[in-house]
Amino acid sequence: MLEFNPRMQTNSIQSIDGKFKGKDIISLDQFTSKDLKILFYLVPKMRAIALKALPSKVIAGKIVVLLFYEPSSRTFGSFSTAVKQLGGQTVEIQNPQEFSSIAKGETFEDTIRVFEAYSDGIILRHPTMGSAFNAAEIAKLVPVVNAGDGKGEHPTQALLDLYTIFEKHRRLDNLTGVMAGDMLNGRTIHSLIRGLSLFKKNTLHLLSSKELKLSKKDYSNFSKRGIKLVEIENVKDMPKNAHFWYWTRTQKERFKNLKSYERVKNSFILNKELIDTCAGKNTIFMHPLPRVGEIDTKIDNDKRAVYLTTQIRNGLYVRMALIALVLGGKI
Ligand code: CP
Repeated sequence: MLEFNPRMQTNSIQSIDGKFKGKDIISLDQFTSKDLKILFYLVPKMRAIALKALPSKVIAGKIVVLLFYEPSSRTFGSFSTAVKQLGGQTVEIQNPQEFSSIAKGETFEDTIRVFEAYSDGIILRHPTMGSAFNAAEIAKLVPVVNAGDGKGEHPTQALLDLYTIFEKHRRLDNLTGVMAGDMLNGRTIHSLIRGLSLFKKNTLHLLSSKELKLSKKDYSNFSKRGIKLVEIENVKDMPKNAHFWYWTRTQKERFKNLKSYERVKNSFILNKELIDTCAGKNTIFMHPLPRVGEIDTKIDNDKRAVYLTTQIRNGLYVRMALIALVLGGKI
């Protein structure tokens, strides 16, 4: 198992503070509401580029390395597409444990140094919390983007989730949301709570089994931010007409034994009965995906279900906007 520097401290990550160029993107804690505004302003432009079917020259000549130690469909695919839509090129390494010199015993540090030398940016997914921060400490010459670090964070997922909520409700304050599934291990949950905490008067109902609640440390840390967190264990306690439901899968890969996973998986299923009981006509149904049984496919065609439509497309446009800003593209 790889060893990592445990110095994962928020205050050693650079704030964006209106200036994205050259910055590592490790945590939602780097962002203010103003930074989100800058990013979101570019999204329609990015959508126009993507729909034009001709690659732009926003980051022409730039090379981005996608280094994914964990499987991915959306994050890998959308980052790869985003770089190409912006006129850049990618070096793509999935499962470097098998398909790079890591298989011969190369260290994480050496691997990051090598790809830093070849590229203008590194997008990293890794099973260990804190790995993106450590990569950023190693690679001083190019920005590192956290594409998911274990059960830590998944900042770019939260950015696209926030944009999707904003697009529907035209605001990110005064919202009531339900988050369901794995609060303990879900990195998308951890980043999205941080993101929604940047805005006033938001309330989140966290629906999970006892075993999958936020850790005490996370609950305490998030609660200090002014966001109202209501932990619930029964769908009967869900609020009516929430602005969004954010369903997640139980993170099987974070469990030490399969029996514990089997005991708590799919405790809450998003299905028609639940929708008819609790959802409103403007409630949107979100999921970072992949789903593994916790959403009934019969509701895929419900207009309020955005997990296979808007949310996916926004993933591309928001990541395009972020790359354009971080690599200092000609927008
Ligand atoms: N939402 C998400 O991170 O999906 P992938 O694991 O497929 O990238």
